[in-house]
Amino acid sequence: MEFPFQIQNLEQYHRDYKESIENPENFWATVAENFVWKKKWDKVLDYNFNEPKIEWFINAKLNITENCLDRHLIDKANQPAIIWEPNNPNLPNRILTYNDLYHQVNAFAKVLLNNGVTKGDRVCIYMGMIPELAIAILACARIGAVHSVIFGGFSANSVADRINDAKAKLVITADGSFRGEKCIPLKSVIDDALKSCQSVEKVIVVAHTKINIEINKNRDLYWHHEMAKVEANKFIEPEVMDAEDMLFILYTSGSTGKPKGVVHSCAGYMVWATYTFVNVFQYKAKQVHFCTADIGWITGHSYLLYGPLCAGATTVMFEGIPTYPDSGRFWGIVEKYNVDIFYTAPTAIRSLMGSEEEIINSKNLSSLKVLGTVGEPINEEAWNWYHKNIGKENCDIVDTWWQTETGGIMISNLVGVTPQKPTYATLPLPGILPVLVNETGDIIQNIPTKGNLCIAKPWPGMLRTTYGDHKRCKETYFGMYPNLYFTGDGASIDEFGNYKITGRVDDVLNVSGHRLGTAEIENAINLNKNIVESAVVGYPHPLKGLGIFAFVVPKHQDYNEKDLKAEIISSIVKEISAIAKPDEILIVPGLPKTRSGKIMRRILRKIAEKALDNLGDTSTLIDPAIVETIINLSNSKE
Ligand code: WT7
Repeated sequence: MEFPFQIQNLEQYHRDYKESIENPENFWATVAENFVWKKKWDKVLDYNFNEPKIEWFINAKLNITENCLDRHLIDKANQPAIIWEPNNPNLPNRILTYNDLYHQVNAFAKVLLNNGVTKGDRVCIYMGMIPELAIAILACARIGAVHSVIFGGFSANSVADRINDAKAKLVITADGSFRGEKCIPLKSVIDDALKSCQSVEKVIVVAHTKINIEINKNRDLYWHHEMAKVEANKFIEPEVMDAEDMLFILYTSGSTGKPKGVVHSCAGYMVWATYTFVNVFQYKAKQVHFCTADIGWITGHSYLLYGPLCAGATTVMFEGIPTYPDSGRFWGIVEKYNVDIFYTAPTAIRSLMGSEEEIINSKNLSSLKVLGTVGEPINEEAWNWYHKNIGKENCDIVDTWWQTETGGIMISNLVGVTPQKPTYATLPLPGILPVLVNETGDIIQNIPTKGNLCIAKPWPGMLRTTYGDHKRCKETYFGMYPNLYFTGDGASIDEFGNYKITGRVDDVLNVSGHRLGTAEIENAINLNKNIVESAVVGYPHPLKGLGIFAFVVPKHQDYNEKDLKAEIISSIVKEISAIAKPDEILIVPGLPKTRSGKIMRRILRKIAEKALDNLGDTSTLIDPAIVETIINLSNSKE
């Protein structure tokens, strides 16, 4: 793939930006010309944010795997597509060329067909970071099955909720997954989850860790047995997909209820993931791209898999964790594979900042050209450390703001094209029209200012719906402000138009770059029969960005504090995941509530932050004295 749409300099950025906003159909048609289509579009865009209805490249036909694989066979067949680095650095790595990956994907696509999966069926994928994960995803896309990848850290109950919501027909998993010293028993989690899932007919299991697993003869199949049935070099005709057919579902937490399935479409997502990859990181042919995100999150979908592969890049896939066997692991991988582009999260940067200089200095990082950050606001200290110690002051840092729902990067500087500014995501990408709105819902015209971040126009990679519940999509994203997509984030803008994202303004917590709904955590706590109710808030945490603080009201006063806390933690781990464990639990006799019964989280946040000087107005509370009681309890625990 050539990249005529790669922005070369600041003037072009301004020109392209203007064109993309004034003539979006023209602009995106020109970009889309560079992809492989089975049939081109009749019309580029049709939308209204009210329903919402969003359609890009109307009536075009394509298959994303032809863009990720087939087209590269002409000139990149022997170039590594995926370099896989195992958890244990002493074990052999695996390198899949574009040719290898192409054959594996075709073969596994045949396995899926053999097992009755057809276009439109949902397939749930619950695996660690091994090449079979990438192969499974692409094989689904090849035959038009909708993949729903679930991060390997989620509990059986969370997995079951997601499988049931999507009514998945087939599950692909592995016996287990290595992470540092640990081995996560993925298959046994699936066995538990499937006790409450009726839709699943088959489970395909990769034998990776070789730990003991149970095999249910009527349901479970081994990956290698199934692959052995497929004839060598089998070609599977890529399914003809409509531009707006579903490519995948990815579940994410919101401020209310259970996680929702964000739906991405085939064409718009492909164009957006690739366009943003090539422009933000300024990818150049043959560069090696290392995105440290797990494919269980959107960052892994867009910038480990689809974006780099569509662009014909070499993408590094790392099974393990940054601190195993020591905190130099990422830098060792950069050196080993001559990584050009390194993309990670502030929480990882902060956790590695403390490591000894020697650990970094012993590695040759001179291949690096670009550093990226994503997932949460990056504090200035972490930005400076990253720039100096990893980039040796020679690499631009792109601070990329986006969301599961946006499909790809929305606001970011572009390497060497638009200027970086520490702690600022800076300027919107072409096609993106951000606006800030005030409390009354009006768009603020004058800058500098701050407000709630919305997007005023559609872009190709945006979500199309939330699976099985379009009303929820409308209410969550389009119901807050008419004709605007609401991000849930607060932001400020400086006098030059640079955006700084300040964090969520809804009841979503961003903990170590993981997105968690406070309601979800509260529901898990409240399932405990010894608990009446609870309120969960975030507070600044030096490593995790936000820590989780749970205020919990017990049913009876004769509780044992240690046991009760242990029960709370175990129900959260069971219902959600260990990533949602509270950092602090405070058992309290009641919660501050308004006369209408609403918990006043603002006050609880201040208590969690220990910012007690200015609690604000508490006069609307039913029982203002409860605030004093909670403060005293909190102080007595120090
Ligand atoms: C939320 C989305 C998108 C990939 C990973 C997270 C926060 C994301 C940044 C950034 C400040 C950021 C926002 C956003 N966020 N990137 N560069 N600076 N905040 O995806 O789980 O959908 O979470 O992550 O709060 O709304 P996600």
